[in-house]
Amino acid sequence: ACGGGDDGDGGGGSDEGLVIGFAQVGAESAWRTANSASVQAAAEAAGHELKFVDAQQEQEKQISAVRDFITQQVDAIVLAPVVETGWTDVLQEAEDAGIPVILADRGVEAADEDLYVTRLGSDFAEEGRKAGAWAAETFADDADGTRILELQGTTGSAPANDRKAGFFEVLDAEGLDYEIVDSQSGNFTAEEGKAVMETFITTHTLDGIDLLYAHNDEMGLGAIQAIEEAGKVPGVDIQIIIVDGSKAGFQAGVDGKLNYIVECNPAFGDQLMDVVESVVNGDEVEKFTPVEEGAFDASQFEAELPNREF
Ligand code: AHR
Repeated sequence: ACGGGDDGDGGGGSDEGLVIGFAQVGAESAWRTANSASVQAAAEAAGHELKFVDAQQEQEKQISAVRDFITQQVDAIVLAPVVETGWTDVLQEAEDAGIPVILADRGVEAADEDLYVTRLGSDFAEEGRKAGAWAAETFADDADGTRILELQGTTGSAPANDRKAGFFEVLDAEGLDYEIVDSQSGNFTAEEGKAVMETFITTHTLDGIDLLYAHNDEMGLGAIQAIEEAGKVPGVDIQIIIVDGSKAGFQAGVDGKLNYIVECNPAFGDQLMDVVESVVNGDEVEKFTPVEEGAFDASQFEAELPNREF
């Protein structure tokens, strides 16, 4: 991949700042809103012009945004790819135009690895492993096997693929006796998470279901509503893991409605600006920089809630 120009002044940028195009996924979750705000604030603080496009979770909209950024000859393109596949052509077009592409948050398939400079974001597989480690420990003595429902994120997205893979990798490694009763996508939204959970309840009832693994807060919170409406007690009748760690997620934890939170950190705007500047300057950068993240069980929810920023 190209490393960008040598003076940081490639396309309409002034000496003071860069022109950066950012093709964001959408506004599907509190995490996403916080991430957009973090990147926008950081660009402004660094004196860069950010051309921001909300692609409403549609790959086609992201592809046209990237093409527009190429036409506008921005200094760098930041892309948070909604799904992992289907990027080869447009990434090649950016490379041909000499505009470096930096992935923020989500990744693309390995075959396209040479077509972007670097990715800054979460290690989604590690998030899945953290969830899996907690589940393996919590259900280690479950004699009749652990029955699991899974609410996956957007089909084909890096966090959905990797959170799933990391989770079941650990369950298998730990030798947990489990069954995936059902696993469907709730597209990372509360509405769809709730609707899928309603279908799960109709199809399987909740009797004998031990665990719901929701790939993000919104889907978990939507599912909690569906469970309550079915007359069951979330967090007790069925244990629940969520990923992100928003205020609303932690509040549900404090209220006893869920049992484990894996953190996904959206506040990497400043770090992203540093990466973009390095890339445009032609400096060597790591291919992947993970952001720092923790995980929290019920004993930690109350103390952690005031620290949550989104
Ligand atoms: O890519 C990060 C994921 O996207 C977050 O977990 C989710 O909330 C968002 O929609």
